[in-house]
Amino acid sequence: MKKELYILSVVVAFSLLTYYFVEPFAHGVMHPHVESKNFVYDGTSDIQEVETKIAKLEKELAISKADEKTDAKKLEGMQADISKAQVRLGSKKTFWADVKRISALKGDTKAGEAMYANCTSCHMQDAPAMGGVTPPSLVNAGATYDRNYLIALIKDPAMASNVDHKFSDSRLHPMDSVKYMVSSDEDIINVVDFMLKTAPKQETITPKIAFEDTCGRCHNIRYKKWTTIGETQKFKHKQDTLAFEIKQLDYQDGLKTYMGKLPPDLSMYIRSRGHHYISTFVEDPQQLLLGTSMPRVGVNAETAEKVVAYLEEAGDPKKAERNRVGMYVMIYMVFFILAAFLWKKQVWRDLH
Ligand code: HEC
Ligand code: HEC
Repeated sequence: MKKELYILSVVVAFSLLTYYFVEPFAHGVMHPHVESKNFVYDGTSDIQEVETKIAKLEKELAISKADEKTDAKKLEGMQADISKAQVRLGSKKTFWADVKRISALKGDTKAGEAMYANCTSCHMQDAPAMGGVTPPSLVNAGATYDRNYLIALIKDPAMASNVDHKFSDSRLHPMDSVKYMVSSDEDIINVVDFMLKTAPKQETITPKIAFEDTCGRCHNIRYKKWTTIGETQKFKHKQDTLAFEIKQLDYQDGLKTYMGKLPPDLSMYIRSRGHHYISTFVEDPQQLLLGTSMPRVGVNAETAEKVVAYLEEAGDPKKAERNRVGMYVMIYMVFFILAAFLWKKQVWRDLH
């Protein structure tokens, strides 16, 4: 008996050690923990990202300079990369300082309503795809997006979503022209003020709506029959089914060209990535997956929570039930062990 107990305690000790120390450590090395910024969009991490890049490039340059074999042309190229990154850093700092300044202003709702017509010229019902993606419905945008992010987005969409490196004078962000339609600080704050003041109540935004409005133009969810061009319908005629599929494939081709990669179907992502990863990824994709082609989606905390809930409903619909059944199983096991122990005592009573 003593020997068995000893073996059991060794097994338990090693299991606990692996569970609480080895696994979290290995996980931490492979996926460094990224804290949420509480959905504050002020550009801090975008600026840090470029600063880190510059520091890395400077270190590489110093190493190459020390090596006599490096030719002058290569050094020149490295120097040029550093200068380019420094320009990018400067424009990011100016941009986010501008956003902060605009954010402190007070908006005029009435003037904002008139300006908002500029937005609906692209963001209308059944809008066609532009540059590979459909402008999403803005009906709920005042309730789903963060105020600061909206200011940043209107000021410069590529900067706000931290994808400015993908665009240039010869390749513009699909929403780029908003910069010329709504350009002064006052115009920007007025539109945002109008959107927030006329936003629908949080209770009316279900997890499904939150997902479809903010992620649905790029991601399919097969388990929910959601495609990037809308819900899959049951058509009476095969021609209509095929026509829908063709439309979806065409849209995906455009999306792939725009993003450089087809955004994945999110049916099962909640299982492989978990809550924390998904909500921090949406806030700041580059922090979690440097070089990723997904733009930042500047949703507020409530929306992130709803989107995660929706992904859970799609990928793990039995979780609540599993937890409940798990509880019953544990209670049953405790009783069972107790009963088994008493029974054993009873059987061996005369021998001991
Ligand atoms: C020239 C057409 C155009 C105009 C004008 C325009 N948008 Fe957009 N907007 C787009 C497109 C296209 C997208 C999708 C871009 C993407 O997914 O990369 C978009 C995306 C958005 C998003 C989602 C951003 C995100 O990060 O997920 C919001 C919010 C938005 N627009 C608000 C506005 C507001 C507010 C205005 C008016 C001040 C406006 N848009 C004007 C075309 C436009
Ligand atoms: C404008 C298009 C676009 C929008 C909008 C968008 N995504 Fe993405 N998303 C992408 C692309 C492109 C990728 C592929 C990124 C890669 O692999 O580099 C991606 C990848 C992902 C991934 C996988 C990350 C990983 O670790 O591989 C998750 C999770 C995700 N998106 C969640 C969301 C959620 C949630 C939303 C809505 C709040 C959203 N996305 C909105 C384009 C988009």
